[in-house]
Amino acid sequence: MKTVLIVDDEATLRRVLAKELGKVGYNVLTAENAAGGLAVLDAQDVPLVLLDLKLPDRSGLEVLPEIKARWPLTEVIMLTGHGSVATAIEAIRLGAYDYQQKPCDLDELEALLLKALERRRLALHADALTGGRDLEAIEWGASRGMAQIKSDLEKAAPTDAPVLIVGESGTGKELIARRVHALSRVADKPFVVVNCGAIPPSLVESTLFGHERGAFTGAEKRKLGLVEVADGGTLFLDELGELPPEVQVKLLRFLQSGEVLRVGALEPIQVTVRVVAATNVDIDRAVEEHAFREDLLYRLDTIRLKLPALRDRPGDVDRLVARFLRELEAKGRPPRRFSPEALDALRAYPWPGNVRELRAVTERLCILSEGPEVGVHEVQARLRGGSAAGGTMPLITIREAEERLVRLALERYPGDKPAAADVLGISLKTLYNKIKAFEISDQIASRKRTGSA
Ligand SMILES: Nc1ncnc2c1ncn2[C@@H]1O[C@H](COP(=O)(O)OP(=O)(O)OP(=O)(O)O)[C@@H](O)[C@H]1O
Ligand SMILES: [Mg+2]
Repeated sequence: MKTVLIVDDEATLRRVLAKELGKVGYNVLTAENAAGGLAVLDAQDVPLVLLDLKLPDRSGLEVLPEIKARWPLTEVIMLTGHGSVATAIEAIRLGAYDYQQKPCDLDELEALLLKALERRRLALHADALTGGRDLEAIEWGASRGMAQIKSDLEKAAPTDAPVLIVGESGTGKELIARRVHALSRVADKPFVVVNCGAIPPSLVESTLFGHERGAFTGAEKRKLGLVEVADGGTLFLDELGELPPEVQVKLLRFLQSGEVLRVGALEPIQVTVRVVAATNVDIDRAVEEHAFREDLLYRLDTIRLKLPALRDRPGDVDRLVARFLRELEAKGRPPRRFSPEALDALRAYPWPGNVRELRAVTERLCILSEGPEVGVHEVQARLRGGSAAGGTMPLITIREAEERLVRLALERYPGDKPAAADVLGISLKTLYNKIKAFEISDQIASRKRTGSA
């Protein structure tokens, strides 16, 4: 029986969809908010989720990464209202399979569900588990730092040595991790991403190692952990620095013994995985501050790839832009080029969001540009803080500038942190860290838009 979970606060929509999908053979489960939806996913294996973008307790865009982190094989289709196509596209970037505009066209929805099921079926066969996405091309640029990484990566990938990738947000850590897997001896086996920062801390252990039936209240069925799912392939521990201390001990034990103990189990299971980890926090400092176990870092840090920030390799900006322009053109967008002065301005900008931000800015400029050539004024107007080249901008510390930008983005997108993180070119997790670091009050950080729209 095909099971689908509908998470939407509109009772009528739930009822109608449940009835219609029931007629064509679906077992339909429903929840009226995010918390309810997560509880259902926790209790049973659900292959398909229809997720409303606007839920009463959390935004769909915020729940989506948690679902994809905890149940990577569950396919999510977003349900969107009018005029939220841009957000829906963001959702696809965050791992949603597709989106459907409300009111739903039932034939279309059914076709979509079938396609999503097919993708899941393929994903269950190891080779397609490599993240679902096609391997993105890496632009290596011409800096010494990146050349070194390329050469180290090519040597390390075919061995079984653990690889630790460090670097600021948006420098390409995940891209590099996927390349390590693609060049490894286990390239045809699963590549399983564990986003340690997107899983609620209390659930990290059971997500990683699985649990037996009845291990804790709510554990109605036995569940495989992501480590077991990755057996034979690569386990990518993303945002390693976020791993809670109790789980660090358990991970260490697994790395030493190769044995997985499901929560509540008596007998361990033998699992072999190649481990690749990534973090954008200063992991050595975390060790000094006793926030991260030294013995665990030692196990993961055989080969360290340190990705340089984009501002430290401004020479690569031109090549990256050229690559992104080619990609956009290949997607059918009208051809665009940047004037030499425009490229100068891009090179001078400090790129706090690194390559991710450059990609977003390039795409934005291409869409908004009137003619085939993007000029310097357009670039300056689109870079954050207005004029990038400096000129009359008063000098402030980077930290101060960062705080201002974070506050500005939160104000501009009230109650929509994923959107705020996106314009800043940082991950949602990083945004949360910055809100904490800058001690931005909860009222500001999660203020909802008030008054009439
Ligand atoms: N060398 C590169 N060539 C082409 N695209 C790149 C390169 N580096 C990064 N990108 C692009 O930048 C974006 C961010 O990359 P990625 O997700 O790998 O960053 P990250 O380091 O994992 O960031 P975070 O710490 O925020 O998770 C992606 O769209 C990726 O394709
Ligand atoms: Mg990443």
